[in-house]
Amino acid sequence: MPLSVVILAAGQGRRMRSSLPKVMHKLAGKTLLARVLDTASRLPCRQIYVVYGEGGALAREAHPAPDAQWVEQKERLGTGHALAQVIDFIPDQDDVAVLYGDVPLLAQQTLEKLTATAAETGFALLTAKLPDPAGYGRIIRDAKGKILKIVEEKDATDQEKSISEINTGTMVVKSRWLKKWLRKLSADNAQKEYLLTDIVAMAVAEDIAAHSVEPASEMEIAGVNDRAQLAFLERYHQFTQAQALMRQGVTLADPARFDLRGELQAGADVFIDVNVVIEGKVRLGNGVTIGPNCLVRDAELGDGVAVFSHCVIDNAIVGRGGKLGPFARIRPGTSLGEETQVGNFVEVKQSTIKAGSKANHLAYIGDSEVGAGVNIGAGTITCNYDGAAKHKTLIGDDVFIGSNTELVAPVTINDGATIAAGATITKDVEAGALALSKREQKTIKNWRRPGKKQE
Ligand code: UD1
Ligand code: CA
Repeated sequence: MPLSVVILAAGQGRRMRSSLPKVMHKLAGKTLLARVLDTASRLPCRQIYVVYGEGGALAREAHPAPDAQWVEQKERLGTGHALAQVIDFIPDQDDVAVLYGDVPLLAQQTLEKLTATAAETGFALLTAKLPDPAGYGRIIRDAKGKILKIVEEKDATDQEKSISEINTGTMVVKSRWLKKWLRKLSADNAQKEYLLTDIVAMAVAEDIAAHSVEPASEMEIAGVNDRAQLAFLERYHQFTQAQALMRQGVTLADPARFDLRGELQAGADVFIDVNVVIEGKVRLGNGVTIGPNCLVRDAELGDGVAVFSHCVIDNAIVGRGGKLGPFARIRPGTSLGEETQVGNFVEVKQSTIKAGSKANHLAYIGDSEVGAGVNIGAGTITCNYDGAAKHKTLIGDDVFIGSNTELVAPVTINDGATIAAGATITKDVEAGALALSKREQKTIKNWRRPGKKQE
């Protein structure tokens, strides 16, 4: 059965108290809508439709989904009205999966179960039994357990309110049935809205049964209405990610103080200390250790790399056995070779540093190519910016750069050269040479410091 997916995302999300549409808020680094779009696109579906509302153009721009069609719901008249905005685009022979843009953790397996049930029966509803069903539509069944209807909380009698089985909102229904039923919806209810849930009673009237499927976890069906719920789902999601990583053999000093906002691929015996944030796509080789309070984003760390505390590594590659920090900042476009050392208060940007080279203290290396076996002294600065353009610093193999050196780019220091401490290098230095640019030291004997005036 061909499948179309409709994501309802026209809700304003007032309780978020935000200038952003609700579905633009992020869970583990990815917007709520991107998560639902991802889940949808993993289904074998013909087409995804997103129903958006006020402020939704922003969401549309932020989610370039080539296989999605965006349809505006100009007035927010209920879930039935929202679905009616797209139903005529969907071929009669399709099954239609209705998802909510603000329910980010729905699992693919659950949806597969739901679509499989719909493929057999034409009408599958995702329901759940909750200890506290307040606020949800309730599933009303007859004595034999057949679903009769869904009653919204606001229309429910006290007896109906005591039912713990709820409508999650997610369903898969034959397109041609939906077309027929959506036309018949009325807004004659407490909310004065066109309620999609009313189609269940219509089906029953035609002797068509709605079949229920349950999710593996309650968290799959949890929606985000305010920032507290968003934070709650974030913590749950982080918890499940951490559990999965630990089962794969990663040691987390404290799984409650680890955040993964992206994808982490880790080798054997990786150790991650507390308050580490991993973003984007990160690959860690065997035996990598990451100290406390580090941010690692879109990076690849080779086997045995040791990152000490308080480092930021962003869009960079670190070769086998490299040592970073504490307090190192590795900025985008940086590639550090094997066994390199970048120590405290060293910033490296858009630079290549080859095997075994060291910059252990207080340095800025920008737009540079540094050879192998180089020693960069404390306080070395590549002056890569002249106020208008960036220039390159090229440093050969086995160069020794003394402390507090300025390398004014563009400049080349050839293999084996030595730069004396405190030099300002503006001209290329040939291989094997010593370059110095120091002012001579002058010593005045018995120097008296100026004293404070006595009054
Ligand atoms: C809906 C269900 C209720 C279910 C609950 C689960 C209906 C009538 N009720 O109630 O049975 O228990 O979800 O959370 O369906 N939306 C639009 N346009 C609209 C209205 C809603 O796009 O005009 C979207 C919202 O953005 C949201 C979803 O539909 O993603 C659900 O809307 P919401 O108002 O939260 O529905 P509930 O009243 O909570
Ligand atoms: Ca809701």
